[in-house]
Amino acid sequence: MPQTTETPPEEVIRAALYVEPELVQRIHAAQLPQSLLDAALYAVSGGGKRVRPALTLLCCEAVGGSWDDAISAAVAIEYIHCFSLVHDDLPCIDDDNLRRGKPTLHIHTNEAMAVLAGDLLLPLAIQQISDGSHAPTLEANLCHTLSKATVEMVGGQVYDTLGGLPEHLDDIENLESIHRNKTGSLIHAACKMGALCGNATEEQLQAIDTFGHSIGLMFQIVDDLIDLHSPAHHVGKATGKDAAAGKTTYPGVLGVEKSKEAIEKLKKQANTALETLGKAGKTLQTSNVWMACRTR
Ligand code: IPE
Ligand code: IPE
Ligand code: MG
Ligand code: MG
Ligand code: MG
Repeated sequence: MPQTTETPPEEVIRAALYVEPELVQRIHAAQLPQSLLDAALYAVSGGGKRVRPALTLLCCEAVGGSWDDAISAAVAIEYIHCFSLVHDDLPCIDDDNLRRGKPTLHIHTNEAMAVLAGDLLLPLAIQQISDGSHAPTLEANLCHTLSKATVEMVGGQVYDTLGGLPEHLDDIENLESIHRNKTGSLIHAACKMGALCGNATEEQLQAIDTFGHSIGLMFQIVDDLIDLHSPAHHVGKATGKDAAAGKTTYPGVLGVEKSKEAIEKLKKQANTALETLGKAGKTLQTSNVWMACRTR
C-alpha cells in the first residue's frame, strides 16, 4: 500500500518531542536579558514541525548512533532554522504577520527585537555544537557543516528576495539554485550532522548526503505548492503570497503538474540512496514519503 497520509510518521513525532524541551532549556541556560529571553523563546517555541532536528536524530540512528549522540546538533539546526524564519518574516523580506499559527515575532514585539533575536540564535546554535562535548574532529566537522549551510541559506534568501543570480543560468537553473540554497542547504546539513554524530562510514555518509540533497530541494517545492493550495488556517502561516510577491517558485515557472513530477523524482532519488542502509534506512524512507505529501 503506498503511504499517502499527511500525518508525520510516529518516529518523526517522537523525535520532535524529544528535542522540544531541549530547545527551551538551552535558551534559558544562556542567561539573557529578560526581553531577549522572551523573544528567543517565542521564536523557538510551539508549532514548528521540527523536521530538521528530527532528521538529525533519525539520520544519526540510521547509521548506528543514538539520539543522545545528536541532540546538540539537532538543537543547533533548529535554532538556525528559527532564526531564518524570524528574519524571513520581517517587513523588508517577506513581510508576514503569521507564523506557526501565531503573530510573527516582529508583530509580537517589534522589528528591532526580531532582528536581534535572530542575531542571537545564530551564535547560540554554534555554541551547542562547540561546547567541548564532542571529539575535536567531530566538533570541527559539525561547525563547518552548519556554518557552510547557513552561509548558503543567507545567499539563497538574497537570490529569493533581491535577485543577483549568476547570469549564465537559465530559468530552471535559477529556480533550483534559489531553492537548494535557501532551504535545501539547512535540510542537507541536518541530515549530514546526524550522520557525523553517529560516526557514519563513508558509504553511509554518501547515502545520507544524497538523501539530504534530494529532500532539501523537494521540501521547498512542496512549500511552493502549499503556498498555492493550502489555506492559512491549516498551515499556520499566510499562503497565496508567492505569486503576488513575484517569487520564483516551481509552480510559477514549471506549473503544478511538472512540480509534482519533480517532487516524485526527488522522493525516489532520496529513497533509492537509502537502500544501502538496509532496514536501518526504513524510518527515513517513511519520513521522506510524508515530507513529499505534507500539506502544512
Ligand atoms: C518553512 O519551514 C520554511 C521553509 C524553509 C520552507 P517548515 O515548513 O519546516 O516550518 P516549521 O518549522 O514547521 O514552522
Ligand atoms: C523560506 O522560504 C526560506 C527560509 C526561511 C530560509 P519561504 O519564504 O517560502 O518560507 P515560508 O513560506 O515563509 O515559510
Ligand atoms: Mg522567503
Ligand atoms: Mg517567507
Ligand atoms: Mg513559502
